[in-house]
Amino acid sequence: MEYSAFSGMINDVVSLEVDENSVVSIDETVHFNKKVRITAANGSSIYLRGKSIVESESSLICRDSSKMNICDSRISWRSHLMFICNSELIMEKDSLLQGLSEMFGLQGRIVIGAQTTIARCSEIRCHFSSIEIGKDNMFSQFVKMVAGDGHKIFDSDGNLITHKECIKTGEHVWLGMGACLLSGSDVGSGSIVGAQSLVNKVIPPNAIAAGNPAKVLREGIRWER
Ligand SMILES: CC(C)(COP(=O)(O)OP(=O)(O)OC[C@H]1O[C@@H](n2cnc3c(N)ncnc32)[C@H](O)[C@@H]1OP(=O)(O)O)[C@@H](O)C(=O)NCCC(=O)NCCS
Repeated sequence: MEYSAFSGMINDVVSLEVDENSVVSIDETVHFNKKVRITAANGSSIYLRGKSIVESESSLICRDSSKMNICDSRISWRSHLMFICNSELIMEKDSLLQGLSEMFGLQGRIVIGAQTTIARCSEIRCHFSSIEIGKDNMFSQFVKMVAGDGHKIFDSDGNLITHKECIKTGEHVWLGMGACLLSGSDVGSGSIVGAQSLVNKVIPPNAIAAGNPAKVLREGIRWER
């Protein structure tokens, strides 16, 4: 077991449970500001390094050899991160997860690129798969990503047909409000996915795609934050 004492501004309750194989390494600049629950069990790791701030009532849970590496990033209020069974979360420098958002990994790997911002009430779930979000993505509110169906599906011959394909986004991708990306989604750099659109295929770079299923409406576009 190896975990550093907290320092910086921690105003209220933090309940921390770690077992003997866990590593929780928290940089001294972390500001937990009220009620954070950190659980790390069975060889799990949680790293929160420089400039990380976990705001009110967030919880981070790592179990069964899972890892979270949240470096120079920010998780806002009432967000919930739960990683179980050999899962991994990496939030690269200056990425942001806004309030009321959730991330879940079950034998999954989620990488969130540097400067990517995920607006509130978004949900990212990864079951037996991986999600690679590129740099400088902008997710609007209520975005959903679901890699891996999460439950077993069999065809009429009894073959397992559960989707496990990963989800990818390039750099500088904008997902409109309520967009949903399923397994097999691969959104090219510079593209926009329209509000409430459902993607499960490849979207080329610098395109606008929208609808259910999302179709390319325009190509050769660019957008600014
Ligand atoms: C997709 C979007 C960028 C518009 O792109 P566009 O290329 O200018 O599209 P247009 O407005 O010319 O519409 C083209 C067609 O796509 C349809 N369409 C546009 N947006 C759509 C959407 N989100 N879902 C389904 N269909 C959509 C239009 O109805 C139109 O259909 P038609 O040809 O049958 O009339 C815009 O509609 C959108 O969804 N913006 C995201 C807004 C958002 O979430 N903002 C968050 C702020 S933080």
